[in-house]
Amino acid sequence: MSNKFYITTPIYYVNASPHIGHSYTTIAADVLTRFKRRVLGKENVRFLTGTDEHGQKIQKAADAAKLSAQSFVDQTSQQFRDLWKSLDVSYDDFIRTTQPRHVKVVQKCLEILFKKGDIYEGKYEGLYCTPCETFWLEAQAVGGLCPDCHRPVERIVETNYFFKLTKYQDWLLGYLRENPDFIKPGSRYEETLRFLELNKLNDLCISRPKERLSWGIPLPFAPEHVTYVWFDALVNYISAVGEFDARDNYVSKWWPAELHLMAKDILRQHTVYWPIMLHALNIELPKRVFAHGWWMLNEDKMSKSRGNVVNPLEMVEKYGLDAYRYFLLREVPFGLDGNFSEEGIIKRYNSDLANDLGNLVYRTLTMVEKYFDGNIPDLKLNGSTKSVAEILAKIEHLPVRVFSALDEQNFSLALESIWELIGMANKHVEETKPWNLAKENKQEDLKEFIRLLVDVIRAVADKLEIFIPQTAASIQEQFVGDKVKKGNPLFPRIETKKK
Ligand code: MSP
Repeated sequence: MSNKFYITTPIYYVNASPHIGHSYTTIAADVLTRFKRRVLGKENVRFLTGTDEHGQKIQKAADAAKLSAQSFVDQTSQQFRDLWKSLDVSYDDFIRTTQPRHVKVVQKCLEILFKKGDIYEGKYEGLYCTPCETFWLEAQAVGGLCPDCHRPVERIVETNYFFKLTKYQDWLLGYLRENPDFIKPGSRYEETLRFLELNKLNDLCISRPKERLSWGIPLPFAPEHVTYVWFDALVNYISAVGEFDARDNYVSKWWPAELHLMAKDILRQHTVYWPIMLHALNIELPKRVFAHGWWMLNEDKMSKSRGNVVNPLEMVEKYGLDAYRYFLLREVPFGLDGNFSEEGIIKRYNSDLANDLGNLVYRTLTMVEKYFDGNIPDLKLNGSTKSVAEILAKIEHLPVRVFSALDEQNFSLALESIWELIGMANKHVEETKPWNLAKENKQEDLKEFIRLLVDVIRAVADKLEIFIPQTAASIQEQFVGDKVKKGNPLFPRIETKKK
């Protein structure tokens, strides 16, 4: 097992404001980062996010906003950084593709591949979707429409530069067959493998003539062309953490990344273009690419081009940050699509957060105050009854269960195992009926009972720090040292209007 952990999110386009979809990937990466920091130490973990700032789409948005491309991207990139701050996202580095450190590495990659003969000049004729920055085959663009955003594609003929994907197709197939864990979930691995088995790759057009688009990184060997935005963007993962030496070897303390996170919309770029680019550059491949599902709104993918986006800050204002973070990670198994709805958040909030977690914490605080004057009973538990022993065993196994689920990027399973313990503790309260113990003056039993609940809560809060850090801190503050300090209920129930 590696003793460092480098994780990335996609770098997001800055042509519009961030929405729930972007926050999903970034929060997921934040959770894995917090988990790994704990296991490996803060200094051994690197979490990179950033913004993708070149290309036609961005140029058009800047024109529409009547701003220069640079001042437009400066503004919109900042929106992402502000959002991550509001969402408690603890990234280590934020890369922007307009930064000199990035431009330098992109140009170096182009130069190396050109020298090597893997980039060559040719004619390009094809169908292009400007909003998606994607070329499509005739067969894909049914009715002259982009299969993704359903807007008209344009026919383009021009001199361009091409990257020899074809040369490496067999190599990539071999690599994938030998490394079935390279792409997750398994369905995405199969999809990529089938695609490569059934289709012959075309070489990738990696330039745009300046007269059509000037907002990009000039090709070092043909400055009248700029770099295709995807070739530019993918390089961010290496430009952020390393450089080429004088002999064109890439040197980095962090590379290879342990994990690239994204949604399935950009799977192909990350599992075909990117591995081939790296291999051609003689650079190691990332250990894993995980493509999760989409958040949908009324059966349609949430995206700015479809105009059906929800602003994460609005949800946070209404339901609180931790309810939002919890909902995203708990509601849908990572990898599958999910439908986003406020009813869904409210349901999770009331059942899991208010009823289960909030209630356990609040009733325990109340009992420590009532029966022990706020002092947490000091004793070592030894599992005097079957249910106590079961709960103690659950506490003991919790780290392994949570951590192994997170090692597989299975957030919902990790949270489920925490909630299993919460559920057991609540059930234990109902079965033990502590009020009777108090009435019968069974002090020792009552002590043991309360101590068990406190131990459960501490174990839970410790793990929750990875997912919902503010709530975890608030719980920990209420159970500090040998005293409790009861605050307001963590998650006051949301009353919904009865129909
Ligand atoms: N700039 C490229 C990525 C380059 S990475 C080298 C890009 N940007 S994007 O702004 O369109 O972001 C796409 C990513 O945002 C998805 O892969 C996913 O991480 C996130 N999501 C955007 N919409 C989403 C949903 N509706 N649901 C889930 N995630 C979504 O593509």
